[in-house]
Amino acid sequence: MPKERVLELLKNKPGEYVSGEYISDILGVSRAAVWKDIKALREESYHIESLTRKGYRLCHCPDTLSLPAILSSLQDAKREEYKDKIIILDCIDSTNNYAKKLAMEGAADKTVIIAREQTKGRGRMGRSFESLKDKGLYMSLILYPDIFPDKPMSLTAYAAVIISKAIEKACGIVADIKWINDLLINDKKIAGILTEISIEGETGKIEYLILGIGINVSWKKSEIIPQIRNTASSIKEETGKVVSLNELAANIINETDNLRDAWIFGNDDYRDYFISHCSTIGKEVISKPENLTVTAKGIDDDFALIVEYADGRTEKKRSGEIVMGTKS
Ligand code: BTN
Repeated sequence: MPKERVLELLKNKPGEYVSGEYISDILGVSRAAVWKDIKALREESYHIESLTRKGYRLCHCPDTLSLPAILSSLQDAKREEYKDKIIILDCIDSTNNYAKKLAMEGAADKTVIIAREQTKGRGRMGRSFESLKDKGLYMSLILYPDIFPDKPMSLTAYAAVIISKAIEKACGIVADIKWINDLLINDKKIAGILTEISIEGETGKIEYLILGIGINVSWKKSEIIPQIRNTASSIKEETGKVVSLNELAANIINETDNLRDAWIFGNDDYRDYFISHCSTIGKEVISKPENLTVTAKGIDDDFALIVEYADGRTEKKRSGEIVMGTKS
């Protein structure tokens, strides 16, 4: 994949000229081949300047999702593995729906589906997930873990950790985690997770698992439906930071193996990260669907939320959701 490698070499020297000779030596290809790759990258909206005797300089990367950009941000060891596993769609109803269809047709493990836009993005509890074109990351990952799904919540919790880390790596902003599947900045939801698992009836084993991730990256409040303006926001709106969709996607893909291992074997570092970033703990919240005000006391070993009722009774909450604030 020399085109991606050329891009990587240019990215490694931000603002500097990189000579064609240097690139061709490193990649073991001809200068003409380098020039061909530069032309191909330009066609994908990369702005690359060229100067006689100096070489090439990357001036601007396109904001839009692209396979070369994602591959160039992946760890070296992952690039080859993912070159045929990332599917980028212009527009789809829901990447989770599409992923399910592919999984049933036998798609490869760790196939990633990313859409620039979703027309029927789905959230938990039958809700919709607003998915404006090029303004967020909408991706689904297909996994076939060979285990019995006795701890589905921990997968979502570990996924929240890798998404939070991916955002931090891409823009330096640390998001809070709202138990169990939301990420917040300034108490506004900026990302959510929808995990869907298909179980084989006879054996109880997992047929396939779809991990759906939605991150609001750059939409403005004025662009979004009024119903969610008070509770949701985007990274750009809350922090002013411009985050590359490609880098964000790559940061998440880089962590896929760690995520699966964490789910199967547990991971104390991720667990500590979840707990230390979980803004729910210690707060009075409304537990749904019961609609009761409770105090969130902590997280148990399986990521259930330990809640205390007004009468002092405690309980482990393994499903449903919590809403910040108290009942009026
Ligand atoms: C939630 O907030 O309740 C979960 C939101 C999950 C949204 C993502 S976007 C990619 C994937 N496709 C979907 O239809 N949903 C998930």
